[in-house]
Amino acid sequence: MESHGVVCDASFFSCFAVMELHYNLQVWGKQCKIIFMSKLLELEIQLNMVIQAQEGNCQHRDETLDWERLHMASSARIAFLLALKRGADPELAACAACVHDFGRILTGKQAGHAEAGYEPVKAFLQKTALFTEEEIAIIAEAVKNHSRKTEKGTLIEEIVKDADVIDCYQYGLPFDRPEKEKRYEAWRREYGIREDIGEPI
Ligand SMILES: [Fe+2]
Repeated sequence: MESHGVVCDASFFSCFAVMELHYNLQVWGKQCKIIFMSKLLELEIQLNMVIQAQEGNCQHRDETLDWERLHMASSARIAFLLALKRGADPELAACAACVHDFGRILTGKQAGHAEAGYEPVKAFLQKTALFTEEEIAIIAEAVKNHSRKTEKGTLIEEIVKDADVIDCYQYGLPFDRPEKEKRYEAWRREYGIREDIGEPI
């Protein structure tokens, strides 16, 4: 990877014990090593382990575990970008979006999954040792309230709701409730995106 005179030899050591991005950089002839810790990356890996552990636990799931994996990761990416534009903490927003369907991951049931995730996600977040108590409270509230798409909640809650809607739509899922379409339309206006050809207005 090369940009602006900086030569980067990046390697990613992915294991379940150490979640770090190691970069060996050559900056103006000098070697240096930078290690980036990623809270989101570690959270996603730990959540993937939870999802994996659900294999065979439910006779019927309203959504497949493959969907849970995809939706967890891509709604987190969308939330990160929404947070940058709206002035929220992008990492916190992405982490909240990442775990927003925790209830459905555990129970396999769509009905009441937001509320069902509230207590379990708090326990999970505490176990990850990645977050402060205040951050856990913010994320857990967003999990609990994310299905209330007609209501307006905190900045992080709104980002999670919108990321959920945008992510489902980008996979071609139809809007099953008018409030979802309303949120999607509001997001398109916010970003100046035309639906017909995706060009800025
Ligand atoms: Fe969702």
